[in-house]
Amino acid sequence: MPQVTVLPHPTLCPDGASFETRSGVFLCDALLRNGIPLEHACEKSCACSTCHVIVLNGFDTLSPATEDEEDQLDRAWGVTAKSRLSCQVVLRQSDLTIELPRYTLNLASEHD
Ligand code: FES
Repeated sequence: MPQVTVLPHPTLCPDGASFETRSGVFLCDALLRNGIPLEHACEKSCACSTCHVIVLNGFDTLSPATEDEEDQLDRAWGVTAKSRLSCQVVLRQSDLTIELPRYTLNLASEHD
């Protein structure tokens, strides 16, 4: 089972987190199930960028982003070469370490 480590984020995960999860599930769902209230404004349909995460370790073990995902990532705040949309990332066997960006662009939300 892959281990997901989340670096501390001031509001979403102040102490950081680490949990084991099943492979084959979406990273966004795994985060939500483990108490990290990541925004997912388009209900995980690759139509926003609010579920943006930065995969610090394990990025190369993931299947590549689709063109649609890349297009959405172009709109994300603080995008890096290791950015992914967590609703499009299927967990494999490898462990991941992720960082949650400080801000998201969510026109439906007033906070951050
Ligand atoms: S929840 Fe909108 S792109 Fe992931």
